[in-house]
Amino acid sequence: MEHLSGGNRSYWIASTPETTYPSLSGHHTVDVAIIGGGMLGITAALLLAREGRSVAVIEGDRIVRGVTGYTTAKVTSSQHLIYTKLVKKFGEDGARVYGESNEAALATVAGLVDELAIDCDFERQDNYVYTESDDELSSVQEEAEVAASLGLPASFVTDSPLPYPIKGAVRFTNQAQFHPRKYLLALARRVEESGGRIFENTKALDVHEGDLCRVETDKGALIASDVIVATNLPFLDRGLFFTKVHPMRSYVVAGYVQDGVAAPPGMYISAESPTRSIRLIRAEGRDLLMVGGEGHKTGQEPDTEACYQRLEADARSRFGLDRIDYRWSTQDTVSVDSVPYIGRYTRTSEHLFTGTGFRKWGMTNGTLAAMLLTDQIIGRGNPWAELYDSKRLDVPQSAKEFVKENVNVAQRWVGDRIQTPGDSIEDVPPGEGTVIRRDGKPVAVYKDDGGELRALSAVCTHLACIVHFNNAEKSWDCPCHGSRFDLDGSVIQGPATKPLESREL
Ligand SMILES: Cc1cc2nc3c(=O)[nH]c(=O)nc-3n(C[C@H](O)[C@H](O)[C@H](O)COP(=O)(O)OP(=O)(O)OC[C@H]3O[C@@H](n4cnc5c(N)ncnc54)[C@H](O)[C@@H]3O)c2cc1C
Ligand code: FES
Repeated sequence: MEHLSGGNRSYWIASTPETTYPSLSGHHTVDVAIIGGGMLGITAALLLAREGRSVAVIEGDRIVRGVTGYTTAKVTSSQHLIYTKLVKKFGEDGARVYGESNEAALATVAGLVDELAIDCDFERQDNYVYTESDDELSSVQEEAEVAASLGLPASFVTDSPLPYPIKGAVRFTNQAQFHPRKYLLALARRVEESGGRIFENTKALDVHEGDLCRVETDKGALIASDVIVATNLPFLDRGLFFTKVHPMRSYVVAGYVQDGVAAPPGMYISAESPTRSIRLIRAEGRDLLMVGGEGHKTGQEPDTEACYQRLEADARSRFGLDRIDYRWSTQDTVSVDSVPYIGRYTRTSEHLFTGTGFRKWGMTNGTLAAMLLTDQIIGRGNPWAELYDSKRLDVPQSAKEFVKENVNVAQRWVGDRIQTPGDSIEDVPPGEGTVIRRDGKPVAVYKDDGGELRALSAVCTHLACIVHFNNAEKSWDCPCHGSRFDLDGSVIQGPATKPLESREL
């Protein structure tokens, strides 16, 4: 039964053609193999190809249908109240590097759009981090002062184009928004024109590091001098990234703007919770207003449908939307100290690289990761690399957050086992799922609209936490490191690589 409007589809995917790149077959040798065709993977492929490297991207599904296909696509160095936080953790110099490098990533996107004449609805807009609350006002004021002192285009304002009054906002001028798939599909075409290869429906299973690396996939192997793991959450456990980043899901609803709809130009995000992220999309001659938010840790929200319902209520009452045309959701990784991990995979890696922890700001941070990794692979020094070093975990605040996040995981591991109820499935309504015990083992049971039951092992194939039902997306989500599984058990999103096993009831 469908409880929600908007059709569970991303506007970005619905408004662009499906790609049809072939799968890998046999063995190929390239300079750089890139695993994952999202913002980081495709951008890195193009930047490396432009440096004369032969590249191949292998994508487990179709390209730009992962997190990047479900983003909100604001391209900005203004990222909530990050600069106040960064000054406390990394000092003024660290915060300045973050701002400068994210502005450079924005300039890279703008430069590629211009140079390659990419038709991707790219437009310059101001970005506002606003508050309606007296409690947050001083934090917003402080952020504006700190960001301006770091040389960023920031100022404190008390008014905005939003249709409701605000107490204050940090405004960053000359930021940007675009259509992420139009942009990246154009970059992918350029990769091919430069001699690079893109292989879809080809899942990487392992990487053997050496002077020549070997990427094992379900379709064949890639031999490469260097390998970038660009799978959002790195899928190889050896770097322990799943302990250093945690996935956060968020939701978006969008409706075409009709008479009476308050459609403010620009990009907005609230400083306070629940977060509201707002922007207009120029959609084939029409305007589509997007309202996002309701973030939570993956697998830790009992009623995900309610997240959409709260967004829809706001879109109707605050902006006057009378229908929702699209809704979508996705998740991104957040690092323990708020700065992405970009660089070598482990302390001993020489040819294996990754980028993760983009904190829902991967349009700039993903582009930046592609820039930094390109420099590292071609051996060009980069003054920003140290801040993002993927092997760091030595700042005291990071250590505290690291412990907190992993205690949360341990609590889920133990608590969910103890709390798994008995074996009653009668009370489960159609379209819902629950975890029950059968022969002492946790079983994930879904009841479809016709009352048919589908049963799977509820034990996540990554590190054995118990999955939870996500009623809005009809998936089984792991509360520990965010793996997601379809109703047939297949992996939607890692770090898990193996499906949930079927069970007989
Ligand atoms: C709701 C929401 C809104 C957001 N809005 C913004 C925004 O406005 N601005 C902004 O800057 N950022 C935003 N972000 C963040 C941004 O969308 C992400 O940081 C970015 O898209 C991540 O790109 P990626 O390349 O790391 O991951 P992805 O796009 O997920 O790409 C990774 C790819 O790897 C593939 N893959 C995974 N495992 C394998 C494997 N084993 N073998 C082969 N392929 C594999 C996947 O299929 C996927 O295509 C938002 C995030 C969320 C959750
Ligand atoms: S994702 Fe790690 S245990 Fe499930």
